[in-house]
Amino acid sequence: MQLFHTLRELRAFLDGCAGKRIGFVPTMGNLHAGHCQLVTQAKGRADIVVVSIFVNPLQFGANEDFGSYPRTLQADCDQLRTVGADVVFAPAVDEMYPDFNGQDLMQQVIVQPPHLADILCGASRPGHFAGVATVVTKLFNMVKPDLAVFGKKDYQQLMVIRTMVRQLNFGIEILGVDTMRESSGLAMSSRNSYLTPEQKHQAAQLYAQLQQILTALKHGRRDYITLCQESISSLEKQGWQVDYVDIRSQTDLSDPSPDKTELVILAAAKLGNTRLIDNCEVNL
Ligand code: PAF
Repeated sequence: MQLFHTLRELRAFLDGCAGKRIGFVPTMGNLHAGHCQLVTQAKGRADIVVVSIFVNPLQFGANEDFGSYPRTLQADCDQLRTVGADVVFAPAVDEMYPDFNGQDLMQQVIVQPPHLADILCGASRPGHFAGVATVVTKLFNMVKPDLAVFGKKDYQQLMVIRTMVRQLNFGIEILGVDTMRESSGLAMSSRNSYLTPEQKHQAAQLYAQLQQILTALKHGRRDYITLCQESISSLEKQGWQVDYVDIRSQTDLSDPSPDKTELVILAAAKLGNTRLIDNCEVNL
């Protein structure tokens, strides 16, 4: 496995891979089994798999965890070697954003996603998905993959990227991979490392609520707003600060009509200072 920090090294390697199918897994590092699964899926569909590790300043709000986000390059590389990644690309901020002084976004070309990016997580994290769309565009331009693999845990992110790839004619296949979970049901996430053992135990309540809504939908309930409100109240009683619990249409995250059969239940909530997200697709 090769580790590159500069675009020049990355391109020199990839230019020697002409004719090979390139698979790409973008990450922010602090990897867990969920990321390894993305690499395994990419390996099964490509000749060369590139994994990027870059904590992207553009997708963090002013009061978010950019500074404290765990940077664990050595441990990440050890894991990636075991799952057969071919290349790790871990650029510094000024390699990714040559003109960015950390402050002046007005000097940056930003990829502005459509309205889809302003709802749910986008409503409470303004600019987040523009930051994601911008860095993913830059990484796509650098790696020039045939296939890119993303986790479904970040469901809205996956939809924003699919929309961007379609509307900007990237010609890259996008694969969404199911969320990996702890035995408690808790979705694997880099941010789980912020939780105390007690909070980690409690964090399984989020998925349990999604499962309760799923069961209710399967039993014929279609009062979406009440169902979500019940979950929000239950989580709040258990000490969560809920951002949203919502039921949306799988295809475009619009508000679904009662006869819609392909739904997704999405939730975001804070346990202490840690913001967790999760979702569950429903096919009725
Ligand atoms: O999902 C993530 O880890 C990040 O949002 C991504 C896609 C690597 C962009 O920074």
